[in-house]
Amino acid sequence: MDREIAQWRADTPGTANRVHLNNAGAGLMPSPVLNAITAHVQREAAIGGYESADEAAEAVQSAYAAVAAMLNAKPSNVAIVENATVAFFQALSAFDFRSGDIIVTTRNDYISNQIAYLSLAQRLGVEIRRAEDMPSGGVDPESVRSLLRDKRVRLLAVTWIPTNSGLIQPVAALGAIAETAGVPYLIDACQAAGEIPIDVFALRCDFLSATARKFLRGPRGIGFLYVSDRALSRGLFPLYLDMRGGEWKSADTFTLVPDARRFENWEFSYALLLGLGEAARYAAGVGIAAGGRRARRLAADLRRQLAATPGFRVLDRGIELAAIVTTEVAGWGATDLVRALHLRGINTSASMREYAVIDMDEKQAVTALRVSPHYYNTEAEIDTLVETLRSLVPASTLR
Ligand SMILES: Cc1ncc(COP(=O)(O)O)c(C=O)c1O
Repeated sequence: MDREIAQWRADTPGTANRVHLNNAGAGLMPSPVLNAITAHVQREAAIGGYESADEAAEAVQSAYAAVAAMLNAKPSNVAIVENATVAFFQALSAFDFRSGDIIVTTRNDYISNQIAYLSLAQRLGVEIRRAEDMPSGGVDPESVRSLLRDKRVRLLAVTWIPTNSGLIQPVAALGAIAETAGVPYLIDACQAAGEIPIDVFALRCDFLSATARKFLRGPRGIGFLYVSDRALSRGLFPLYLDMRGGEWKSADTFTLVPDARRFENWEFSYALLLGLGEAARYAAGVGIAAGGRRARRLAADLRRQLAATPGFRVLDRGIELAAIVTTEVAGWGATDLVRALHLRGINTSASMREYAVIDMDEKQAVTALRVSPHYYNTEAEIDTLVETLRSLVPASTLR
């Protein structure tokens, strides 16, 4: 294991500069990812953007294949887009919602998804129903089952792991419920990709969205959408279809391309796509299950240490917890604390109330420090963070 950790760190230039505990923001890219991107950008400069994409056609196909393999899907089920939000919205826009239609979701869905549901409610009269949580935290599958009995439900949309806590939602159990009810199922897997193995068949989802840059350790500015054969054969396509997904046949007619490319936009970064493919390959080499287990072990260790320290209130709730640790810190707003840690060489991030108003209000928290380790972090780095935090929160500041 020690040799493996040393290798992962040698592959990751950023580990030499920082204690990087912000993988839920953006993971550090390993060198193969960086090299794939920079090599392609250099080819773009040397021979032209379109010409270099043609030259890289085989590598591009293989990037789709690497992403598909990570999902247990076929390359024809993968659409490449700019980020997870665009992926989610492309899927959402495939449903012709009308006034009175219902979207069932959770109390912990991602902020941008929640805002989009509210926008659909305001503009189209769609009703948003949020399933109840269990006392231990996380959505109650029985509440989802009961909400899906309403014949007006058009979609179940669930964020697997929210942005602001370590909660893991029971997405596979919900998939079985959605399938039995005959309701399409959209999963936001943004914080799961690269940390938890994804099998779209076991999840029984119609769509699944994610981004490259977080636990998958790819570049910023690229994401992907899994589109099931079921969704494709139903003829679903995004509201604003462009020339990538549609073929203009006559002045007033178009047809759809047969595969998930119909959810893409014509223009995107081939360099970043190659980086995403490399990230998926690198993750497979490490082993997503084993890497994720190690990341969650580091997170659990940190949670234990913080819970035992006066001045810290760990906020994560749920039966199973991911590699995201959130804590309120006495005497500190999270933004200032992130800045103070940054000055000491430690990367973390701040979760604000407005990122998750339902959850944060329930926890009576205004800000939270978010710490998200990955497999390439070390136990010593966790100890460094804890010591630094203890030095920043002296007993005199405690109420
Ligand atoms: C749970 C979750 N979903 C979606 C997103 C949005 O991802 P992107 O910024 O790639 O659109 C995030 C980003 O933090 C997230 O945490």
